[in-house]
Amino acid sequence: MNKFQQPGIFSLLNFMNWNQKNISNASLKKLLHCVDEPHTSREDQELLEEQRDSNIKLSTEQEAVKNSITTKRKNVFYTGAAGTGKSVLLRSIIKTLKENYGRSNVGITATTGIAAINIGGQTLHSFAGLTPQTQYYEIEDIIENLSKGAKARWKKTEALVIDEVSMLNGNLFDKLNRIAQHFRCNEKPFGGLQLVLTGDFFQLPPIKNDIEKVKYCFEVDSWSESLDHTFQLTKVHRQREEEFVKMLNEFRYGHVSEKSSQIMSNLEKAPIYNNDGILVTELYAINKYVNNVNTAKLAELPYKEMVYEAEDWEPKFGGRLEALIRNCLAPKNLRLKRDAQVMLLKNTTSELVNGSKGVVVGWFSKITSKFYEDVPTEDSVSLLPVVKFINGQTKVIPPFEWSLENKYKKKVASRRQIPLILCWAVSIHKSQGHTLERVKINLDRVFETGQAYVALSRATSLNSLQVLNFSADKVFAEEKVINFYKSLTELA
Ligand SMILES: Nc1ncnc2c1ncn2[C@@H]1O[C@H](COP(=O)(O)OP(=O)(O)O)[C@@H](O)[C@H]1O
Ligand SMILES: [Mg+2]
Repeated sequence: MNKFQQPGIFSLLNFMNWNQKNISNASLKKLLHCVDEPHTSREDQELLEEQRDSNIKLSTEQEAVKNSITTKRKNVFYTGAAGTGKSVLLRSIIKTLKENYGRSNVGITATTGIAAINIGGQTLHSFAGLTPQTQYYEIEDIIENLSKGAKARWKKTEALVIDEVSMLNGNLFDKLNRIAQHFRCNEKPFGGLQLVLTGDFFQLPPIKNDIEKVKYCFEVDSWSESLDHTFQLTKVHRQREEEFVKMLNEFRYGHVSEKSSQIMSNLEKAPIYNNDGILVTELYAINKYVNNVNTAKLAELPYKEMVYEAEDWEPKFGGRLEALIRNCLAPKNLRLKRDAQVMLLKNTTSELVNGSKGVVVGWFSKITSKFYEDVPTEDSVSLLPVVKFINGQTKVIPPFEWSLENKYKKKVASRRQIPLILCWAVSIHKSQGHTLERVKINLDRVFETGQAYVALSRATSLNSLQVLNFSADKVFAEEKVINFYKSLTELA
């Protein structure tokens, strides 16, 4: 095998429109140069984003929601089961909002990094200028400590879009309302900016914390005070099989019929797939299982392993390293090989963000500035991973520092590590919002309301789904969510 025929580097070269004949020393030099440059400009990226749904025609119910937002300029929450096209509709709404208000005046956000990528936006935390800790500060402290950039965003934004709003802590929704009112010097809800919210409260709830009693957004007063209209989308588009759609709708409300149990037990067998390069994503309820699968997959790769050890720091007294590590996804020892599937843990550019997926295609030496497709024996200390992301960009990934500050902005802990994790398997929490062509779900240790429903509703068909450890008691919904939806239906 010629060294350029190996799958990782070959796809990189392919992407750059090179074929093997063309490879000379000169072109290799060009490759090395390109490795740290984005291959797609911001404009190209936006064009790609806009073309993404070009073959989708919005349904009548989707159009009605869009009209209320973009023509009547109402504050709207629209909901609907998984796969009813909430995010597709949101992308279309965002396009028109950008035309209405100017692209930099629309805040495009979601509660998780992965969901943000799905709509070409950023996390709500990064838009709002919050870190995982600052959200629990008193409102006065948050306002005082907000960065200049965040203050400017709060002032000039004319419309704020939030996808996967069900995962937003209601207390934080309240605080965001007050932050907006403060910086916009306007007493109206969210200081008068237009709110566009979407999500499904039957999916995963806000993450619990030990500081406060977490609420759903619909439980806080500012929710109903801020919204002019609530809509429900009813047609499921992600799955076409009627039997599957019916079963998922049952699971959404926490019911499992005899027939559904039967269907689920038939899904224990692994489907037989063509060898066409479409990967199976594995979903697990808890991170321990996710890590075990990823470790095993890495071990199967025939390349040399690089181990990156995190540099941790805390002051002698009053350090919070343990708290930092508890909330930081970057591992103490990150093990990587060529062809490893990875996910980025931080926002680097507007296109490459926390949650972007890619594959390690080789290594870049900081000393020699050379690119290697496998770890060279003569130089393994100065190597940084080179990752080709699924949006086509290829990047050298340098280390990043996560730090924790106390109230007085004093650093109380830090971890420096390459901001990547392995992602053959992902947690159900991180999968919310995604459509997965081929998926293997293990429901062992499901612990959260809506978790089994979220996992199962990622699949597009019963033929591309394998489910292990299903039992009816793993499918449950919360009473107050059921009542909230009941009240919406009664109002309609
Ligand atoms: N109007 C539509 N016509 C055809 N397919 C659609 C339509 N709306 C959504 N879809 C498809 O349905 C799937 C789920 O859409 P998505 O927006 O991710 O749903 P949700 O955000 O509600 O979970 C996607 O694959 C999308 O392409
Ligand atoms: Mg969605």
